[in-house]
Amino acid sequence: MTRGSLLVDHIGELVTNDDRDGDPLGVRRDAALLVEDGEVVWTGPARHAPAADRRIDAGGAAVLPGFVDSHAHLVFAGDRAAEFAARMAGERYTGGGIRTTVGATRAASDDDLRATVGRLRAEMLRQGTTTVEIKSGYGLNVADEARSLRIAAEFTGDTTFLGAHVVPAEYADRPDDYVGLVCGPMLAAAAPYARWIDVFCERGAFDADHARAILACGQAAGLGVRLHANQLGPGPGVRLGVELGAASVDHCTHLTDADVDALAGSETVATLLPGAEFSTRSPYPDARRLLDAGVTVALATDCNPGSSYTSSMPFCVALAVREMRMTPAEAVWAATAGGAAALRRTDVGRLTPGARADLIILDAPSHLHLAYRPGVPLIRQVLHNGVPR
Ligand code: NIG
Ligand code: FE
Repeated sequence: MTRGSLLVDHIGELVTNDDRDGDPLGVRRDAALLVEDGEVVWTGPARHAPAADRRIDAGGAAVLPGFVDSHAHLVFAGDRAAEFAARMAGERYTGGGIRTTVGATRAASDDDLRATVGRLRAEMLRQGTTTVEIKSGYGLNVADEARSLRIAAEFTGDTTFLGAHVVPAEYADRPDDYVGLVCGPMLAAAAPYARWIDVFCERGAFDADHARAILACGQAAGLGVRLHANQLGPGPGVRLGVELGAASVDHCTHLTDADVDALAGSETVATLLPGAEFSTRSPYPDARRLLDAGVTVALATDCNPGSSYTSSMPFCVALAVREMRMTPAEAVWAATAGGAAALRRTDVGRLTPGARADLIILDAPSHLHLAYRPGVPLIRQVLHNGVPR
């Protein structure tokens, strides 16, 4: 963290996510923002900007909170480009390829895994992501889940234990024993490095009873609950997440009215991962239906080598607008404040006094351009903890 004050001046459009005036994005025009010791300490009209030790001239561009990518699987080895090509030629996605990545991950050295996380984290930062959640889930034994989380914790405080990603091949005919392993020695080894616990609750992975048991053990160990739910078909995951007070249920592609009602009456965020639908050529979740019901929606990349190998939040914003009936403002909110809500964080996802000085200066006059100019590198500069990157 650099000491001293830094003024970001001549901001054409400042997205604060301060909804006090009824605008969820809290847009301020012709604004400036002052950073001290890695924190936002003041925002206001540029003409009232205070003096500062250093100054960045935004030149009339838009400034947004850094993206909060609340769902990513970055600790893995190998890739599955051939599986992607097969899908694009007509194969269906089943999640079966997870075991391929488990084999490669177990065989990789710590340094190889660390290098992959570092490369993806750097990719994300270049695209405006200043907060990322990182899951385990490609180790699926005690030692490899623990080291996945140990490495993830070198990059983020939002680490998630996903020992219940799938049942690994060596336990294929005794899933109950695997659930026992996850709840017992694996959780004990993982918990010191984890803030969250997650389960892939889906046909072919873990059913509601197994998921409930695993999440309850995680809660008892002090971990917060999140869930992969209703990705490949309808199922009990979303309602289970709401019942357990999950911070977020993720994917939410196949929802019944009862699922939407349960979410609407809860504090649980619905995190949508359109990169997964893109890369598995599946129908997108209906964000409009969730928003109209009053559900809090987040957007995240789901970055992983199988179902969604993108690290780009701008790409997810563009997909959400074009394919999921979100307005650009809703998508930008979901990618920033929504992600923060999904991680139960109040220090990020907004640009108001007291927030971490994580921000993006766009090469564009407005947040609209993120969806209007898809695929264009619009992230001119990123400040992370107040430090230009
Ligand atoms: O979120 N759904 C389960 N897990 C990942 C996919 C993992 C993989 O295919 O390797 C997901 O889409
Ligand atoms: Fe995922």
